[in-house]
Amino acid sequence: MVLDQIAIRPIELAGFDDFAHYLNDHLADNGADGQVYFQPLSRQQSRLPPELAHNFRTGLALPLAGPGWRRLWGAFAPDGRLLGHVDLRARPEPPAAHRCLLGMGVDRSARRIGLGQRLIAHACAWARDEAGLAWIDLQVLSVNLPAIGLYQRCGFEKTGELADMFRLDGGSFAYTSMSKFLSGTSGCPCDDVHACVAILSPYVFPAY
Ligand SMILES: CC(C)(COP(=O)(O)OP(=O)(O)OC[C@H]1O[C@@H](n2cnc3c(N)ncnc32)[C@H](O)[C@@H]1OP(=O)(O)O)[C@@H](O)C(=O)NCCC(=O)NCCS
Repeated sequence: MVLDQIAIRPIELAGFDDFAHYLNDHLADNGADGQVYFQPLSRQQSRLPPELAHNFRTGLALPLAGPGWRRLWGAFAPDGRLLGHVDLRARPEPPAAHRCLLGMGVDRSARRIGLGQRLIAHACAWARDEAGLAWIDLQVLSVNLPAIGLYQRCGFEKTGELADMFRLDGGSFAYTSMSKFLSGTSGCPCDDVHACVAILSPYVFPAY
C-alpha cells in the first residue's frame, strides 16, 4: 500500500456501520496469538462493545460547543477499504473543554508505512485549526510499545502511569497517560506547558 494513495476523510453517521465492521475486526487482534494488548478488554471481550458503538453514534451528532461530542476520520484505500481511523472526543469535565481525548488504530495490512503519523497529524490540525482546542490527551496500555513510540514521535509527552490498572486474562497491565500541546493555540493560563503537564500527572483519565 502506498501512503499517498490513501485518503483521510471524516466518517459521519451514514458511514458508521462500515466503520463498526472494521473496528470489530481490528479489535479481534487485541492480545491474540501473542500480539500486544492495545485495549483494556479481555480476549473474550475483544469486539466493539455496544456502549462504545452507542457513544460514537451519539457523539458524532453532537455539536462541539457542548459535552459528549466525538469526531471520527477514516483512512481509505483507493478501492474504499478502511485502513485506519482516528477519533477525538470531548472530555467529560466542563472546565476542560479546551482539551480532548484521542483514540486510533491502523489495520494490520497497512502498518509501518507512516499512516498512524498521518492520522495523528490530521487530527491535530483539525483540533487546532477547526475546533480551537489547546491539548490532546490519550491513554495507552504501557505494554503497547508500538503505539507509545508513535505518540512520542508525534510530540506527545508522558504525563503519568498507573501500575496494575487492569487485570486481564490473568495478567496485570499498567496504563500510561500522554498529552500534546497544540502550538499556535491560545495556550495555557500559566504560559508554561511543562508545568501544566506536571500538574496533570496524577490525574486519571476517563475510559475510552
Ligand atoms: C500503533 C499503531 C497505530 C501504529 O500505526 P502505524 O501506522 O504502523 O505507525 P507509523 O507507520 O505511522 O509509525 C510511526 C512510528 O511509530 C513507531 N512504531 C509504529 N509501529 C511500531 C512497532 N511495531 N514497533 C516499534 N515502533 C513502532 C515508530 O517510531 C514509527 O516510526 P518508524 O516506522 O520510522 O520507525 C498500529 O500498530 C496499531 O493500530 N496498533 C493496534 C491498535 C493500537 O495500538 N491503537 C492505539 C491504542 S492506544
